[in-house]
Amino acid sequence: MHLLSIWDLSREEILKLVFLTEEIKYGYIDVEGVLEGYTMGMIFEKPSTRTRVSFEVAMNQLGGRALYLPTSTLQMSRGESIKDTVKVLERYVDILMARVYRHETLEEMAEHASIPVINGLSDREHPVQIVSDMFTIYERFGRLSRLKIAFIGDGANNVARSLVIASAMLGLNIYVAAPREYWLPEEELERVSRLASENGGVVRYTEDPYEAVKDADVVYTDTFVSMGMEDEAARRRGLFLPKYQVNMDLMSHASQDAVFMHCLPAHRGEEVVDEVIDSEYSIVYDQAENRLHTQKTIILYLLEML
Ligand code: CP
Ligand code: NVA
Repeated sequence: MHLLSIWDLSREEILKLVFLTEEIKYGYIDVEGVLEGYTMGMIFEKPSTRTRVSFEVAMNQLGGRALYLPTSTLQMSRGESIKDTVKVLERYVDILMARVYRHETLEEMAEHASIPVINGLSDREHPVQIVSDMFTIYERFGRLSRLKIAFIGDGANNVARSLVIASAMLGLNIYVAAPREYWLPEEELERVSRLASENGGVVRYTEDPYEAVKDADVVYTDTFVSMGMEDEAARRRGLFLPKYQVNMDLMSHASQDAVFMHCLPAHRGEEVVDEVIDSEYSIVYDQAENRLHTQKTIILYLLEML
């Protein structure tokens, strides 16, 4: 089994990963050393702090090893095919994780791999981030139902897309505030809206950040300029600022016990101000810590050891 998209998981599997993460984090399941002799290959086309370090530490704590393989050091950078790269790497390692620009690169890797391939972020999705965030939300609220999540910013980026799909699967109410050209394409929106209503939730895109955050339990944002989109930076900042910045005024419209979440890295002063990210609302460092616990669950689940 591969994990390239939230669509690769069922609602039951997301919940299972969340509950198993709780057991692993608090030591109810002892996983120390279970991956002795196992190796993960981690291919990176772009930078990473959390994803790289949390996967590597997770493998170490499970008794295995992780190899950091930036593409600039692989023969891929000199034209070796994805197929040959994967067919060779799978002779050495047991599981692959890749962070790529084009989602199609991951699909090609998965097509040729007989070992699990994990999406460590592509231009389309960030599924491992969102599985972890669902655990963080569960940990905070004690449930994954009857919650309103507001995502403010680029409503069509990798993090937003994975968050919207997972919320629809779980029947959460997800409101996304973004300029219209940064909404998910119509067809995708219809699909997730249908799914949400089947599960008792809603997906709503709006241009009004106040409508999105009104009584929200979670206010979530991400960069306006994702990696690989740097040439659009000025235009994006012009469109998103100041309307879609998460500041104290916007937060004050959320529910009283609302939390602020951000996958990080944050661009303080752009999508969020210091006052919010450093406030009592903010659970961004818990969120980052939980990546470590969730990576263990994801690795063990894909290796069919849980
Ligand atoms: N949130 C996240 O994936 O962070 P990195 O880019 O540091 O891995
Ligand atoms: N949307 C961001 C997420 C970084 C973890 C990006 O793609 O750069």
